[in-house]
Amino acid sequence: MSQVEPVPHNGRNHRSAKWFQGDSINAASSRAWLRSQGHSASMFDGRPTIGVINSWADTTPCNMSLRDVAEHVKRGVRRAGGFPLELPVMSLGETLMKPTTMLYRNLMAMEVEECIRAYPFDGVVLLSGCDKTTPGMILGLASTDVPGIVVTSGPMLRSIRGTQELGGSSGLWKADTAHRTGAITGRAWREIEGCIARSAGHCGVMGSASTMAIVAEALGLTLPGNAAIPAVDSRRLALAEESGYRIVQMVDEGLVPERILTRAAFENAITALMAVGGSTNAIIHITAIARRAGVDITPADFDRISRRTPVIANVLPVGTHQMEDFFYAGGLPAVIHELGDLIDPDCVTVTGRSLPDECADAEILDPDTIRPLADPLQADGGIAVLRGNLCPDGAVIKHAAASPGLRRHRGRAVVFRDKYDLEARVHDPALDVDASSVLVLQNSGPVGGPGMPEWGMLPIPLKLAKQGVVDMVRISDARMSGTSFGTCVLHVSPEAAVGGPLGLVEDGDEIELDIANRSLTLLVSDEELARRRERWRPAVAAPQRGFTSLYVRHVEQAHEGADFGFLAGRTSVSEQMYQP
Ligand code: FES
Repeated sequence: MSQVEPVPHNGRNHRSAKWFQGDSINAASSRAWLRSQGHSASMFDGRPTIGVINSWADTTPCNMSLRDVAEHVKRGVRRAGGFPLELPVMSLGETLMKPTTMLYRNLMAMEVEECIRAYPFDGVVLLSGCDKTTPGMILGLASTDVPGIVVTSGPMLRSIRGTQELGGSSGLWKADTAHRTGAITGRAWREIEGCIARSAGHCGVMGSASTMAIVAEALGLTLPGNAAIPAVDSRRLALAEESGYRIVQMVDEGLVPERILTRAAFENAITALMAVGGSTNAIIHITAIARRAGVDITPADFDRISRRTPVIANVLPVGTHQMEDFFYAGGLPAVIHELGDLIDPDCVTVTGRSLPDECADAEILDPDTIRPLADPLQADGGIAVLRGNLCPDGAVIKHAAASPGLRRHRGRAVVFRDKYDLEARVHDPALDVDASSVLVLQNSGPVGGPGMPEWGMLPIPLKLAKQGVVDMVRISDARMSGTSFGTCVLHVSPEAAVGGPLGLVEDGDEIELDIANRSLTLLVSDEELARRRERWRPAVAAPQRGFTSLYVRHVEQAHEGADFGFLAGRTSVSEQMYQP
């Protein structure tokens, strides 16, 4: 796309006209206070007003480049004849926010939605990057009927120490184990800290941020190629400018989210998720976005699509490369093109064209990083959905990142009541545990966490790590970071804190995991489970004030997207608009 002329507006009566047109005192004050910024009167001649919604924050280092990105978006909006107005929204910095950014995803989504409704925007460009900022933005947009386009910050440069590839945040987990077991020195550990995140951008492996950027692109909410361009590559700024240009066209075309977020778009996003070996967190976000968009996506859809979709992106933590390499190899357009018939062409993206059409001439430029379908990294998708008496509403496992020897496993449960119990006991030399044990973490789900923190990759007990044990079966109602790995069963639903069977597991119970058969079974009789259920009491006292009290009262379970029930569906901004 390389238009240089302003978009010829089609005379549509823009929503912003209700703020800016006419002689009323409301219209005069709307104009006057914007003119205090030096905007000329010509900005109110009926051109579209575009909100540039920015999640930049010092506390979200992955989004720090978005100030620059915003300027380039605004350049594109002006070039197309629009009027850009930038505003900040809540930002969610993965490494600093406790207990988890997931606790605040819905709050950010509400803020984005309410800003779109309350301000005179005819279209919006959403700037995101770090893990939960992209779903937070998309959830807000999907709840409205205002055209929107997403621009992400892009992955950071690959992490490297000397000539050693560190593997980004995935490598940090491994370095931590090496440091705790004495395999690397304190000096090496400190140097790695300085090498692991060495530029602007979000985590540079196929963690949750990269995965959600790919989901956004596959849904059709970004310009083609957005997901993988490194944050510091000038092509990201060029894409930002083109996104600003395109949103003005989208306003005039009436290309609203409802036309983009169709069932085909969600199926394509799930296919892309599986093909890149993406983060399990995306399952929760995609489910929540679909519920806002009125599309019924269930855990069974993820498993069905996973079974038919090979993993072809050889990117950490499933593969060996980093996102920078993935970009050089062709990025998501090359993946989409290679997936061929697995992508539904009956969809439309922000360009107005279908996803396969946009990727028709894309090429794989490095067949080791993006594998041909004939030589995939793994024959079926990276994520499996499990069922069984331990998870009546499902659980997930990123089996592409699991140990082959544990894909079918039976072992004795070692139960931790919550995160604090885990921290207190897991490394105790006296803990009754061996390599065949199954580590179980309770009370870490949406209500129990609260916010379903990324505690699902339970640490290997130190005494076993020192013996060379690198993986064990681990089960929880928590999530895990997209950069994590291991045989970790996650998102057990219903969660322990609301009475799910996970909360009934006791030390010594036998548990069987069978990934091929998609089953997770607690080998305890129904009668005994009924007795335990009689005795069960919630272990977590419900918070009584603030956002957290609202959260635990309204959050739904993992298999429903962990959204607030009262936010399902979308409503028109016209229906719910304050009349200026
Ligand atoms: Fe922001 Fe990893 S910490 S994406």
